[in-house]
Amino acid sequence: MRIAIAGLGNVGAATLRLLRAHADLLKVRGQEITVVAVSARTKEKDRPCDLTGLAWEDDPLALAARNDIDVVVELIGGAEGVAHDLVRASLTNGKHVVTANKALIAAHGVDLAKNAEEAGLNLSFEAAVCGGIPVLKTLREGMAANRLSSVRGILNGTCNYILTRMGDEGMDFATALAEAQQQGYAEADPTADIDGGDTANKLAILSALSFGLAPDLESIFVEGIRPITPSDLSDAAARGGRIKLLGIATHGEQGLVQRVQPVFVPLSEPLARVGGAFNGIEIEGDFVGTVFLQGQGAGGNATASSVVADLLAIAHNHHSFAFGVAAKSLA
Ligand SMILES: NC(=O)c1ccc[n+]([C@@H]2O[C@H](COP(=O)([O-])OP(=O)(O)OC[C@H]3O[C@@H](n4cnc5c(N)ncnc54)[C@H](OP(=O)(O)O)[C@@H]3O)[C@@H](O)[C@H]2O)c1
Repeated sequence: MRIAIAGLGNVGAATLRLLRAHADLLKVRGQEITVVAVSARTKEKDRPCDLTGLAWEDDPLALAARNDIDVVVELIGGAEGVAHDLVRASLTNGKHVVTANKALIAAHGVDLAKNAEEAGLNLSFEAAVCGGIPVLKTLREGMAANRLSSVRGILNGTCNYILTRMGDEGMDFATALAEAQQQGYAEADPTADIDGGDTANKLAILSALSFGLAPDLESIFVEGIRPITPSDLSDAAARGGRIKLLGIATHGEQGLVQRVQPVFVPLSEPLARVGGAFNGIEIEGDFVGTVFLQGQGAGGNATASSVVADLLAIAHNHHSFAFGVAAKSLA
């Protein structure tokens, strides 16, 4: 299977490293995966990955036009612009797409999934929600026999890191944020993380897979963690719990209710014990009961693990609907 990778940042470079490090393993488990071409913004940049023998395209859209590529891996990011254009062009040109781009999928996923289905192609985005945790596969396959009533979780590692440090060390918000940036968890512009937008994107995708409804960012109530103080966290500890930024979606008699907000979680619940930059998700199914997943929700290596799992599924000719049901049936 011949692939191209657009975007060689944290996730793109780690994906290349993983593909090289585990080439033998991947061959045994599916098929040889050959990286043919790559693209990023600056060719001259020093990168923590080996680009020897790979074709370079200055314009990522050129990857979609190449006839020696079966799958385009989009790891640039952003709901609009080049990432959106590349994914659309790749599907139009008969290439499967793997992406880690939650902003794109939350905003345009249904439309893109329709394009993919009409063309008989895969649009895969396991890495877009909770990095290395295989939550979409769990929803789409492992829990497919259940009617789900709720999904809730810590979906943003940066916020969880900040809240953990504030709670454990009594740090104020600004100091904990600066530390998260120093550790490489938070972006230079951390707005999307701390104001809840990133969690909302992921929740919209989780809801779509859980309840068969199109992602609808507009309907999500969103509150971030800026107003949380160390004394809120020490009060929570005194009451036997923690404050966590949760994405919560419930589906019942009132229809779908979705919200992102800081919530008191008692220590008796596994979500309260998910610390640092980790993510955790709790899913309720009617036959299976509660399923809890925990792991690294971000970071190049963990996210690359999900990107490459999607590639292997395509190599196995495993065709699945992007949102678990036909895109045209998403209400
Ligand atoms: N980082 C994570 O932990 C994580 C986890 C889950 C999902 N994701 C998602 O994965 C995607 C990539 O994230 P990342 O952290 O790897 O981002 P990043 O480190 O900022 O890398 C972005 C890459 O895209 C390239 N790029 C940006 N604009 C471009 C343009 N106009 N044309 C061509 N290339 C362009 C950059 O090129 P240069 O290197 O030349 O500047 C860079 O290689 C995003 O959708 C993100 O939401 C990330």
